[in-house]
Amino acid sequence: MCGIVGYTGKGPAVELVVRGLEKLEYRGYDSAGVAFLLGGKLRVVRAVGRVEDLRRKLPPEAAAATSAIGHTRWATHGRPSELNAHPHSDGAGNFAVVHNGIIENYARLREDLQRQGCVFTSETDTEVAAHLISRLHEACGDLPRAVERAIGMIEGTFAFAVLSTHYPGRLAATRRGSPLVAGFGQGEMLVASDALPILPTTHDVYYLKDDQVLDVEPGGARLKGEAVAPSDHIHWSAEEAERGGYEHFMLKEIHEQPAALRKLASKLIEDPGAPGDPGGFPRFRLDEMRVTAEDLRKATRVVVVAQGTSYHAGLIARNMIERTARLPVQVEYGSDFRYRDPIVDPGVLVLGISQSGETADTLGAVRLAKERGCRTVSVLNVQGSTMARESDGCVPMHVGPEIGVASTKAFTGQIAALYVLAIHLGVVRGVLTAPEARRRVDDLLQVPQRIDEALAQAAHVREIALKYKDAEHALYLGRGTGFPLALEGALKLKEVSYIHAEGIDAAEMKHGPIALIDEKMPVFVLALQGRRYEKIVSNIQEVKARGGRVIAIASHDDREIAARVDDVIRVHDDRGIMNSIVCSIPLQLIAYHIAVGLGRDVDKPRNLAKSVTVE
Ligand code: AGP
Ligand code: GLU
Repeated sequence: MCGIVGYTGKGPAVELVVRGLEKLEYRGYDSAGVAFLLGGKLRVVRAVGRVEDLRRKLPPEAAAATSAIGHTRWATHGRPSELNAHPHSDGAGNFAVVHNGIIENYARLREDLQRQGCVFTSETDTEVAAHLISRLHEACGDLPRAVERAIGMIEGTFAFAVLSTHYPGRLAATRRGSPLVAGFGQGEMLVASDALPILPTTHDVYYLKDDQVLDVEPGGARLKGEAVAPSDHIHWSAEEAERGGYEHFMLKEIHEQPAALRKLASKLIEDPGAPGDPGGFPRFRLDEMRVTAEDLRKATRVVVVAQGTSYHAGLIARNMIERTARLPVQVEYGSDFRYRDPIVDPGVLVLGISQSGETADTLGAVRLAKERGCRTVSVLNVQGSTMARESDGCVPMHVGPEIGVASTKAFTGQIAALYVLAIHLGVVRGVLTAPEARRRVDDLLQVPQRIDEALAQAAHVREIALKYKDAEHALYLGRGTGFPLALEGALKLKEVSYIHAEGIDAAEMKHGPIALIDEKMPVFVLALQGRRYEKIVSNIQEVKARGGRVIAIASHDDREIAARVDDVIRVHDDRGIMNSIVCSIPLQLIAYHIAVGLGRDVDKPRNLAKSVTVE
């Protein structure tokens, strides 16, 4: 959940590590710290709050250090405090450890270590790792070996970076479950929780595998004594991960959606197909999916596993795949699927949907599905992520790094990528004719333009948002694919504004939630034309009859709606499933502007983390 950065080389290590921590701030954290070596001694500086609070506490002499480790903590064991902040050290001050994850058997390890005389100064699970490594080092006299032995005794999930007075200029780094990547510069090396802190130095990286212990020096890295070469080259530029003039990453990412979806389409669609072509079917670039056409034909069911926003994208995918490929789809929270002894067999295609590719619950579900013999395909955004490596194959979204904690462009990217997949399934399974498949691809290619049109109304949406910013509660209603959008609209609002919001299937209103309606309750309604339009209009009337205030997201050509509601936001309605992407734009803008109006920390909302690597 948190961030780890380590550096060794010729440069100002502490400054580079702190800058790296700033790049990881988006992941969410409550305190931060660094450890560095000066004159053969270990120095640790920690602060509650932001990385800038840590920066202010750094002594001037820290500038001379050439190796350092740093951490942003998202507390799991022990409240956020300076004593609990990382790095943690052994009693003698020879080893400093930063840790991401949870040591499940820490209580037992702690008792054993206390019996051996170790004195603990924090409430964290992490501190046992520092003492344990120190103890094991006494016995074996070798840093990587001591770390290897320590992780042999540790149960749970972790990424660790270790600095020691006995090994100036060296770092040890290891992981199990939590992400860790090493970057190879010229005479300098970095390790970090993701590639963003590494990109200003190098694009050549090595993604650590579970239980590997990397021995890092300025000139390179070794695994069990063998030199390691970079395994991947990152294509994102450092600039892509910057704010580029926008006040917040969330706003930048909302506005990036037309370009992001154009890129997605250019990467995933090889040829949209033309009536004159042989067969005239569109062709897709889905080779990384690594599932044969035969397997797709034989599939009996799709099970989607995901959490949060990605789960909402999964609910939309159900609609798309069922309609387009006539294949039954079940959408599950990974967290529930993995512990339920689910009924799946090798005929089931399991789709993991995850922006980060690191979400512990989704990953756990994908692993279980693999064990049960299912084909597993992950739809994700982060190249080299754990899910990308552990699934049989993947469908990358290509929407570029998403830094704002609240997912925006990754959500619309997921819907678009899943639509490509749905059309492909429809073609392979013989459900779609060539013209039907081409029409769907055309709809997708039209979407960036429609998003541009929706964004052109940003000022109007902002006005509406500010009108409702002081509400204590809000409801979002939708039917069909409008329902997952209602869930997502409500989640966005909760996340960034802290206003209590609920997404409800409009058909369910009468079964209870309508009791919540009074004149203070803003109700955002997904009210596009379509099969369910008349029913949604009835829901609007029911809300209005009880004094509720209705804000409709409506079709550009709906002439009647304005008279029925308090406010209208119009989107261009192509009467197809791609409307779900277009409608997401005002929902994102509403949440964003309400949050900014309330003075919230939009990119790093309280209590949230960008990638949830613990259960
Ligand atoms: C999105 O706004 C949320 N912060 C969160 O619900 C997120 O979608 C969820 O944690 C899943 O993340 P993933 O897509 O990286 O797996
Ligand atoms: N479990 C550790 C703690 O509470 C690490 C948390 C994290 O991943 O930041 O300190």
